[in-house]
Amino acid sequence: MKGVILAGGKGTRLDPLTRITNKHLLPIYDRPMVTYAIEALVNAGVTELMLVTGGTHAGEFFRLLGDGHAYGIDRLFYAYQEEEGGIAEALGLAERFVRGERAVVMLADNVFGGPLRPFVENFERQERGARILLARLEEEEHLRHLGVAVLGEDRRVTEIVEKPASPPSRFAVTGLYGYDPQVWEVVAALEPSARGELEITDVNNWYVGRGDMAADVVEGFWGDAGESIDAYYAVNDHVRANGANRS
Ligand code: G1P
Repeated sequence: MKGVILAGGKGTRLDPLTRITNKHLLPIYDRPMVTYAIEALVNAGVTELMLVTGGTHAGEFFRLLGDGHAYGIDRLFYAYQEEEGGIAEALGLAERFVRGERAVVMLADNVFGGPLRPFVENFERQERGARILLARLEEEEHLRHLGVAVLGEDRRVTEIVEKPASPPSRFAVTGLYGYDPQVWEVVAALEPSARGELEITDVNNWYVGRGDMAADVVEGFWGDAGESIDAYYAVNDHVRANGANRS
């Protein structure tokens, strides 16, 4: 199992904090944001990682992470995204790194309170297809800013709607995904969305359409620190009080 950490984008929702650095280098409590995603995957046994980033601050990731050994990474690869082409385009840059294996993909602004190992193990046991981690949220307003998934009988996903005006369920799609090697054909065939980007939700809905998207629901805390300045501070407060990636 390979791991792909996506740490690109302009981070416009955290402007002006992101004018002077990459969003994923901003601190969450006592260390840079990206290190939480790394810790989460390493703790789950995924130690061969590719970090995809872009923009003008990419070099800072080398300074922070180096060869990754200090973070428990076995082999760390880097890829550079030239344009703001979206999450799915960034994922496409990892194709040659992952090759014929499966990949766990994580957005580096996501922070989880508990371990990701159960998700990774469930994905390993799965015969084929993809898997997403969902979080049950109560506030409808929050769901409108995220991907929202509808679950069928056997915990298969039947629909994912990106940033829905009226959310069809309480299950938010977090930034943790598992893909089999079919994903590279899916990414290659994507068309840009209305905002001109290749959307991860379109990748996920390809698997949904084939009945091949499984899901787990996260227990404990989940936060997307890139969603807004308030969300960023809410994640900071939570991590400061409770820690993150606890086993
Ligand atoms: C992305 C996904 C969305 C998901 C979210 C989780 O949204 O498109 O489906 O719910 O990450 O962090 P973005 O944060 O890029 O708006």
